[in-house]
Amino acid sequence: MDGLTHVAFRRLVAHYGPPDLFYTEMVSVRAVVFQPPERDPYLWHTEADRPLIVQLSGREPELFEEAIRILDQKFDFAGYDLNFGCSRGRARRQGWGAALLSEPDLAREIARAARRATRKPLSAKLRSAPGHNLKKLLSFAEGLLAEGVETLILHPRAPEEGFRRPPRWEEIRELKRATGARIIGNGDVFSPEDAVRMLSTTGCDGVMIGRAALLRPWIFRDVKTKLQGGPLPPPPHPLEPVELFVRYLDLLPETLREKRFTLWLFWYLQNFPFGLYYFGRIQKETSLEAKLDLLRDLLAAEEVPPYPVSIRQNR
Ligand SMILES: Cc1cc2nc3c(=O)[nH]c(=O)nc-3n(C[C@H](O)[C@H](O)[C@H](O)COP(=O)(O)O)c2cc1C
Repeated sequence: MDGLTHVAFRRLVAHYGPPDLFYTEMVSVRAVVFQPPERDPYLWHTEADRPLIVQLSGREPELFEEAIRILDQKFDFAGYDLNFGCSRGRARRQGWGAALLSEPDLAREIARAARRATRKPLSAKLRSAPGHNLKKLLSFAEGLLAEGVETLILHPRAPEEGFRRPPRWEEIRELKRATGARIIGNGDVFSPEDAVRMLSTTGCDGVMIGRAALLRPWIFRDVKTKLQGGPLPPPPHPLEPVELFVRYLDLLPETLREKRFTLWLFWYLQNFPFGLYYFGRIQKETSLEAKLDLLRDLLAAEEVPPYPVSIRQNR
């Protein structure tokens, strides 16, 4: 998740209990090709946040090929994920992310170029096709699979919907049924029960969790516990993840630390009934230290409520 699932956040998740796979935030293929990737903090990682998949965005097949060759040569990532899901204005205007759902031939070329560049696992992150056109989605998916993409991740909301409507999990089921490929479902998994329900009702092979992990970085531990049938451990004290996260911020360049901390707090504080009010107050503080002092006051008497996570605002 852009600006959020950097090395410091992934390290926090790993502290509580890692998922089977970590993903980077989206990284532009252009940036990888034209700037030294060793110096790109989006690509920084540690031993704890592995196996790590790099998510790549762009629209030029030759840049995907070149970027993956460079990354394969310089790092030991577990695989690559192609972004056909981002529906922000910038992606729409520049024709990458979910905009490529309407250019299936170009998307196939991207997949082919990526496959030429590496023998590592390749996945693609999709949204529903515009207007929830299922036929279009399935044909898009088949195109990618034919080029050697092995795993498809589906967030079943159409590009024009933002987060306004519930995701149509039945499209995950359809994608699995029609392609038989390895499918990872995504969208509104807000509790360990949701993860179990997504697996059982759609037949998908895995579950990707986004926003709920920002609020509860320990959710992957809880999902695994639930799948094994055990009782859920209690959540940590609300201040614990904050203090840990601040420590892990040292893994990022100094210039990014406060910005990334504040960005995460917008989500994390939504755990609490007055969280967005707290966030407004925190934002007025001008240093990381001052923000932390205020948080210690505000969160001292709070408790993390039971699942499900409820998202009050998406931005
Ligand atoms: C702030 C934010 C940033 C995101 N950045 C990315 C991204 O970089 N790449 C991507 O594939 N999806 C991105 N997404 C979409 C999520 O991966 C996911 O598909 C979506 O939030 C639905 O899953 P969830 O209900 O578990 O959050 C982002 C979502 C949010 C809210």
